[in-house]
Amino acid sequence: MSEHPTPPPADAGATAAPPAEPVAPTPAAPGPVAPGPVAPRPDEALRGTLAAVRTEVGKAVVGQDAAVTGLVIALLCRGHVLLEGVPGVAKTLLVRSLSAALDLGTKRVQFTPDLMPGDVTGSLVYDARTAEFSFREGPVFTNLLLADEINRTPPKTQASLLEAMEERQVTVDGTPRPLPDPFVVVATQNPVEYEGTYPLPEAQLDRFLLKLVLPLPERHDELEVLARHAAGFDPRDLRAAGVRPVAGADALARAREEVTRVQVSREVLGYVVDLCRATRESPSLALGVSPRGATALLATSRAWAWLSGRGFVTPDDVQALVHPTLRHRVALRAEAELEGVSAESVLDTVLASVPVPR
Ligand SMILES: Nc1ncnc2c1ncn2[C@@H]1O[C@H](COP(=O)(O)OP(=O)(O)OP(=O)(O)O)[C@@H](O)[C@H]1O
Ligand SMILES: [Mg+2]
Repeated sequence: MSEHPTPPPADAGATAAPPAEPVAPTPAAPGPVAPGPVAPRPDEALRGTLAAVRTEVGKAVVGQDAAVTGLVIALLCRGHVLLEGVPGVAKTLLVRSLSAALDLGTKRVQFTPDLMPGDVTGSLVYDARTAEFSFREGPVFTNLLLADEINRTPPKTQASLLEAMEERQVTVDGTPRPLPDPFVVVATQNPVEYEGTYPLPEAQLDRFLLKLVLPLPERHDELEVLARHAAGFDPRDLRAAGVRPVAGADALARAREEVTRVQVSREVLGYVVDLCRATRESPSLALGVSPRGATALLATSRAWAWLSGRGFVTPDDVQALVHPTLRHRVALRAEAELEGVSAESVLDTVLASVPVPR
């Protein structure tokens, strides 16, 4: 499993605990990378709403803070998420809880070996009464789509979803049909190659803004999971667990607007570019991060800066988002893989070698 010891920021929001990895304290006197007085004051109420989403999810899911933060960042960026973890680490529970905490249209598709593209996107059905074909919308016509166990379905069906993700529309019989806004896919997959799984095509992985890896829980978290079960927690009944919808499309749209006002200095832009360029020079990689990947890192760092209560992006924000934003956008050389090099270790090397603007 490509698990990484320093996942993205573990917590966000005004009342949040500090992130798991050392992030520099919010500078009182802005350093050279902070635009200073021109930085806008981000909206505290909106940030509170997003912190409330995390609280609701926490009523069902114990720990996994980095993944919860990642999902909130993806909502802020309107990006899709690939959620990876061994069976039983609450991938499905996490996404179901997120849906329950949002006042959005949500649908869930279990990707089975016999699922057809039309089962995802929709298809033309014949109406005998009018003697005409009409389009019956598939489950992609929603705001938040849980694509569960995406690597258990054959490539043709995967492709139909990946196309809808990229184009944000579905074309059936030559007619394009736009998907709702927001349209965010959270796909889950198991990391190990079980029999009967179809790995997602590497070239299409960068349609996911983030790849979040759910680790096995720490002992104290696992104990809490069991304590909740002992006290009667039923993972199938999230309402009974008290998970309530606390944010809707409107709040998300306004928060997104705030994020676009987060400032990024020339130095920090340069840092993002240098990190991505360094991956292209890594001897262990057959494929480095593309410019699209660089724009993704900028977007996720910005959303994290906003969640952390800042109106500007610091190099620490960028560092915190490097692994989840870039780990699936690089391809290892076969020799490197044999030597035990992983995408995570290459990204660590890159982070250690690129000078940080201070
Ligand atoms: N961190 C956690 N917090 C709360 N419950 C948990 C946690 N981890 C595991 N569980 C429990 O384990 C159950 C299994 O989780 P879930 O079905 O979401 O796993 P999954 O990762 O989707 O597994 P699979 O890959 O087999 O689909 C949950 O319903 C819950 O009862
Ligand atoms: Mg599952």
